[in-house]
Amino acid sequence: DEDPRIDGIKTKIRVVPNFPKPGIMFQDITTLLLDPKAFKDTVDLFVERYKGKNISVVAGIEARGFIFGPPIALAIGAKFVPLRKPKKLPGEVISEEYTLEYGSDRLEMHVGAVNKGERALVVDDLIATGGTLCAAMNLLERAGSEIVECACLIELPELKGRDRLHGKPLYVLVEYH
Ligand code: PRP
Repeated sequence: DEDPRIDGIKTKIRVVPNFPKPGIMFQDITTLLLDPKAFKDTVDLFVERYKGKNISVVAGIEARGFIFGPPIALAIGAKFVPLRKPKKLPGEVISEEYTLEYGSDRLEMHVGAVNKGERALVVDDLIATGGTLCAAMNLLERAGSEIVECACLIELPELKGRDRLHGKPLYVLVEYH
């Protein structure tokens, strides 16, 4: 049975048809951020799930993983590690490429941000094809950390992104069919 807070969260996510291009139903979480109760409920649901699980790293994916990751990290007593788009991080980085509908993109992480054996949670707003989360997990695993789980607000289950997550668990609050 679903937590009663999830219905309130669902109603605050705005679906924008044909953005950024025809045929895409864009899941806009900025409307959720405008509602302090729904925003807090979202963070609380993740915090309740992950506190006491000995997670030392919350890794957030640019850009919207930077909105939800930090409050979760602070509440569970973990550090926050930003996984960034190319050429944004000033230090030495490791990087992972992933494919998009047209072309490819890359995620980068600072060397030394994560130590071997650390327990990591990966956070983003949405999983579609799973390519982005897969690249994020590769970065953390290359640094020797153990992925405890991936957490997203929204899953588009028809795109089967879950199948690309190396068998690691994915926890989502809302499915959009
Ligand atoms: C969106 C979303 C995820 C990713 C999911 O980000 O926030 O990070 O796509 O897609 P996938 O599962 O098919 O990889 P986007 O690429 O739009 O980048 P942005 O957040 O920087 O705008």
